[in-house]
Order: sequence, then C-alpha cells, then structure tokens
Amino acid sequence: MGFVKVAEASEIPSGKVKKVELEGKEILIANVDGKYYAIGNKCTHMGGDLSKGSLSGNIVTCPRHKATFDITSGKVVSGPKFPLSPKIKDEKSYKVKVEGNDILVSTD
Ligand code: FES
Repeated sequence: MGFVKVAEASEIPSGKVKKVELEGKEILIANVDGKYYAIGNKCTHMGGDLSKGSLSGNIVTCPRHKATFDITSGKVVSGPKFPLSPKIKDEKSYKVKVEGNDILVSTD
C-alpha cells in the first residue's frame, strides 16, 4: 500500500509522541531529536498504550508494567516489572518518511 500520511510534523515536537491509526493498527510515532520513528503502539505484554507512557531519548516506557522498547527498532530493551518477568516480543517497526510537513508511514 506504500506510504500514507498519518500526521503533520508540527504536531509532534522533539521528545514527543503521537498515537495514530493506520489500516486498523495503532502506531506510535515519536520525534527523537528531529527524526521520526514508528512502532506498534500496543505493548506486546498486555496491550498497554505506549502513547501514554514516557519517552526518554529513544526509549519508550510502557505505562502499565514499565517494559521498555527502543523506538528506533521496536526491540525490547527491558521486560515488564511483573511477577516472573515474562519474556515479551519486540514491537513491529514501521518505515517513516517526511515530505514537507507531512509524516508518512508504510505498513509494508
Ligand atoms: S502492558 Fe506493557 S509492560 Fe505490561
């Protein structure tokens, strides 16, 4: 399906995130020092809303049990603070490009 506009760059200042929906999927867009990244927004542990978590540098922390993901790759950095410390999957990472003030994401 290629790249689709999901947001405007001016909506997401550096250090901020925004949740968007594309093809029925929730995607988290983040601005890290002027570069934009996109990963799945639902935590792979128990579906926490990562857009309500915190972003520090390129690390996003789930608001529910504090699992952390690298926004640049979707990879798990640390698992949930949860009994038995379950292993969780990486988030899907999406390609992002910026055209003028438009942020486009590809789900391919
Ligand atoms: S739902 Fe995200 S760490 Fe549990």
